[in-house]
Amino acid sequence: KWDSVPLAPADPIYKLTYAYKDDTYPQKVNLGVGAYRDDNSKPWVLPVVKKATDILLNDPALDHEYLPITGLPDFTNAAARLILGPDSPALLEGRVSSVQTISGTGANHLGGLFLSRFYRWDEGTPRVAYLSDPTWVNHFQIFRGVGIPPETYPYYDPATIGLAFDKYLAFLKSAPPRSVFVIHACAHNPTGVDPTREQWLQIAEVVLERGHYVFFDSAYQGFASGDLDADAWAVREFVKRGVPLLICQSFAKNAGLYGERVGALHIVSPSSEAAVRVKSQLAILTRSEISSPPAYGARVMALIMNNAELFEEWKRDIKTMAERIITMRKELRRLLTEELKTPGNWDHIVKQIGMFSFTGITTEQSLALTEKAHVYLTTNGRISMAGLNSHNVRYFAECLDKVVRG
Ligand code: LMR
Repeated sequence: KWDSVPLAPADPIYKLTYAYKDDTYPQKVNLGVGAYRDDNSKPWVLPVVKKATDILLNDPALDHEYLPITGLPDFTNAAARLILGPDSPALLEGRVSSVQTISGTGANHLGGLFLSRFYRWDEGTPRVAYLSDPTWVNHFQIFRGVGIPPETYPYYDPATIGLAFDKYLAFLKSAPPRSVFVIHACAHNPTGVDPTREQWLQIAEVVLERGHYVFFDSAYQGFASGDLDADAWAVREFVKRGVPLLICQSFAKNAGLYGERVGALHIVSPSSEAAVRVKSQLAILTRSEISSPPAYGARVMALIMNNAELFEEWKRDIKTMAERIITMRKELRRLLTEELKTPGNWDHIVKQIGMFSFTGITTEQSLALTEKAHVYLTTNGRISMAGLNSHNVRYFAECLDKVVRG
């Protein structure tokens, strides 16, 4: 049976979590998956989420009925305001079709599926999704899965451990008109390298000139700067300038709701009539795949986003996470540069933002860290900063120092 089915490789990120769990070494460190941990390496239930959950579960009117196909309106409306801004012209003009999705992955899939069916791929626009080089590994299989073959555009410059901005811009200029570009809205995964505001504006200008379509993936709003509005700046600026776009939104990281799969897809259209048609098609696609989305996490987020007090508390919780990560960046850089005098320049660790740091170490060095030091990280040298804490940062710095020295 199934003789012709080849064995698929294990997922490069999840397999690290499984291996870490099986490892009995006391000093093991998990810097693999992008999931927040507190200073004791434990998952953190945001206090605001605990509060909202208590309210929800004590509500005598709580039932277990199906949500509407496109999701809980109190959730999708608040989610749209969160990313687009409450005074967004697109929202005020009714030009946004928002639907609830199975977190950010589901939003990427649904957005990809919608483009696959309805984007005008004719007139010299190749059926290609341009992904940043590098990007979140899952993007490749998501776009392949919906029949839009992925290709890459220049993004990261290993020489500077920063943005390859000139090459990125030149690629945007030379790509066929109306190409689809998947762009990380903030806190780029895996590099932690984002364009500056000035660079974002130049990107927007070229995108508009060429008529490209921007497929924003926003999985880390709040994690880049600790401020939800600041991290939505690029998206809002692009919307204001009339760039054709959609946004995939996840609440896994900024609300610590990883397992609840809470997310949304927002497609911005040129008119409110188009938005109604777009939403009707998204409903068909959703119904055929998941019928209607899960209720629990959306109810929790709706409570938090629609209550001024809980919303303020959520912002404080996000700051707590972002600030702990920034402290770890500073401490890691200090240990490497000042104490251990590790060869090389480690300033990028404090310059990069969000959940991840792209250390710049090689595949061999990454593998050596895992095999010899029980430090789990992806083989591209990405580390999840949230896996570091006051108890393990020195151990990690020492191990990194050893592999760098060879
Ligand atoms: C990551 O890149 O580690 C996260 O986005 C988690 C995931 O689903 O891969």
